[in-house]
Parts: sequence; structure tokens; C-alpha cells
Amino acid sequence: MVVRRLWLQNFRNYAFLDLQPARGLNVFFGPNGVGKTNLLEALSVLATTRSPLCERDREWVRWQQATCGLKTIVYHEVTNATTTLELSVIGAEKTLKVDDARRSDLQQWLGTLQVVAFFPHDLSIVAGDPGERRRFLNVELSKAQPTYFHDWTQYRRALQQRNALLKMRQRTSLGEWDAQLAHYGCRLMVKRRQFLMELAPLVRDTHAALSGTDVPLSVTYAPSLPCARSDEVLDLEEKFLQTLRKNFEEDARRGITHVGPHRDDLAFRLGDMDLRRYGSQGQQRLAMLGLKIALARWVERTTGESPLLLLDDALSELDASRRRCLLRQAQSFPQAMLTSADRHLCDGVDATFFEVRDGQVQQA
Ligand SMILES: Nc1ncnc2c1ncn2[C@@H]1O[C@H](COP(=O)(O)OP(=O)(O)OP(=O)(O)O)[C@@H](O)[C@H]1O
Ligand SMILES: [Mg+2]
Repeated sequence: MVVRRLWLQNFRNYAFLDLQPARGLNVFFGPNGVGKTNLLEALSVLATTRSPLCERDREWVRWQQATCGLKTIVYHEVTNATTTLELSVIGAEKTLKVDDARRSDLQQWLGTLQVVAFFPHDLSIVAGDPGERRRFLNVELSKAQPTYFHDWTQYRRALQQRNALLKMRQRTSLGEWDAQLAHYGCRLMVKRRQFLMELAPLVRDTHAALSGTDVPLSVTYAPSLPCARSDEVLDLEEKFLQTLRKNFEEDARRGITHVGPHRDDLAFRLGDMDLRRYGSQGQQRLAMLGLKIALARWVERTTGESPLLLLDDALSELDASRRRCLLRQAQSFPQAMLTSADRHLCDGVDATFFEVRDGQVQQA
């Protein structure tokens, strides 16, 4: 898919913006603090109605303003159709319109604009604690499968109930919540396992193309409840239930459930090296870029449409040859947008250049 047009009103430092991005690679350059990241954030908001960079919607409304509007026209190459998405924030209320008709159902909105974004903040997926990696799984799988989000919500509810009862040492009433935890928990595990199985080869190939080395990058699912490739949901459920019963004393002592998808992790390894502990900054960055581009290929495969690729400040910390490889990868998408404080990092690259200056964007 291709974004033909983007309008912003009172979004972050943009009072008003009317932008026509090109097909292929778009490079936004300009000094620190002028609004490059804000621009990519706006496109991410249009994709999911939420910002990957902040919890509270209120933060994107321009200071001293009560309302904020974002609008885009998206062209779908597969169906040769265009869709208009419009999102406004007025006070605490968010309104969504698809092709000028008001929609209250988020499902009809999601998927119109598919975005895969890299923000420097995403480095925490490899370098941060396991919660960051679970968030990655939850966000990406919820975007791809509505049932995943439902399973996750139900699982969390059951977990809260179980932990509350554990604190009161109410063993007899645990049965119902154990059953729910096992049911929804195993559905999550199976979906995560399948996702990683599909993603891992794409990550390895993309990373090889980016790094130009043959030291393979592997990403593997590290579930807190051991789970073999061949385990069926029902076998897993039984295993989970047994573990919950076996752990009762220990769980009750601390009032928490020690095993389950809320304790899952992912392992990133470069060859034999644990990338989180020993990877250099450039290696970790390249791994995350490999992960995101692989994710974009995965979205392409599962939905039949190429997502818009957003790369925020991705070139810094990379050496010249890796920068070239990354730019080549970005160019292979129908549309990609990249920001850089240094225009010269993209010298000689076939792209459309835009200069960003204090909330204004101009084609250069
Ligand atoms: N809600 C808001 N209202 C108005 N301005 C805001 C709001 N939120 C952030 N800003 C301003 O936006 C600017 C930051 O923009 P952004 O993060 O896009 O910069 P950038 O061009 O990506 O810079 P860098 O090169 O340092 O990454 C800051 O000057 C900040 O004060
Ligand atoms: Mg920035």
C-alpha cells in the first residue's frame, strides 16, 4: 500500500501539514527537534489509532490546543482502490472515520493502513527486559489476529483473579481460574510459537542481507512453560494445569503465578552469542532493523499487501556499508519513509527528499 497524502492539524509540533509522499523511498531530513519523529509517529497513529511512543493520546495534541486531527489517503495496489482514514481527538474523545463514514468499530479501521515501524526506542526489544519482548509479541500478534487480543485480555483477567485468590490462599476456588488460565494461555503460546516459526527464517535472511556477514541471527521463542514444536493445544493445556497445581504452594507464598505466557521471553542470538548481554550497539540495532524488516515481509505474506515501512533515525550507529544495505532494503518496498538528521548519509540514493523545519515539511 502507498500513502498518497497526509494531513495533520495540531498534531505535536505541526499546526497544519499537507504532505504528498512519493512512491518508493522518502527521506525526511533536518536538525534535531524539528518534527521528523513526530511525522512517523502520526502515520503509526493512523495505522492503529494509538501511538507506539506514548501511553496517553493527549500527549500528541499540540500544546495549548483542545483538538487534533489526522487524515490520510491510502492507495491499495492489490485492489486498485483508495481509502480515506480520518482520526480526530476532541478532549478525551477519539472519533474515527473511514471514507467519510463514522465508525465505532476498531476492527474495520485496523488493517487499512498497515505500518511496520522502527523507532530508536525499539532497541529495548533486544536490550531491555523480557516485558519489552512480550509487548512486541502482543502488539504484533494483536494487529495480525483479532482473536489473539481477545485471548490475551481473557488470560490477563484470569491471571489477576488467580493471583488475588492465591494471596488469600483460597485453594478450593482456584479450579475455575486455573482452567481459564490454561485454556487462554495455551492459545497464546501456540500463536506465539507459530509466529516465531514463520518469522525466524525471514529474520535470518533479512539480517544476512543487512549485515553482509554469514553469522546468522536467530530469534527463538522461550516460553516459560516448556512447549515442544509438536505439542498440541490440548496436551499443552494439560501440562499447564499440572504445573499450576504442582506450583500451588510456591505461588501462594508469593501471591503470584510463576509460570505462563506472562513470563515468556524471546532469545536473540548472533551465532552463539547472546545479543542482549554481549551485542554491540550497532549489532543490536542491526538485529532490530532485521527484525522489523522481516516483520514487514511477514505482514506482506499474511495479508497479501506490502506495509508502509517507517524507519526513524535508523542510519545512525551503522557503518557506511550497512547503511547502504539498509537503504537498499528500504527501497525494495512500494513505499518507505526514513528520517535522518544528516542528509548526506543518503547522498546518491534514489529517493524523494523532504526538508523538515520546525513543523513544516518541504520537498527538497
Ligand atoms: N504535544 C506537542 N505539542 C507541541 N510540540 C510538541 C509536542 N510534543 C512534542 N513537541 C515538540 O516536537 C519536537 C520534537 O519533534 P521530534 O521528536 O519529531 O524531533 P526530531 O526531528 O525527530 O528530532 P531528533 O533529530 O532529535 O530526533 C520538540 O521540539 C518538542 O518540543
Ligand atoms: Mg527524532
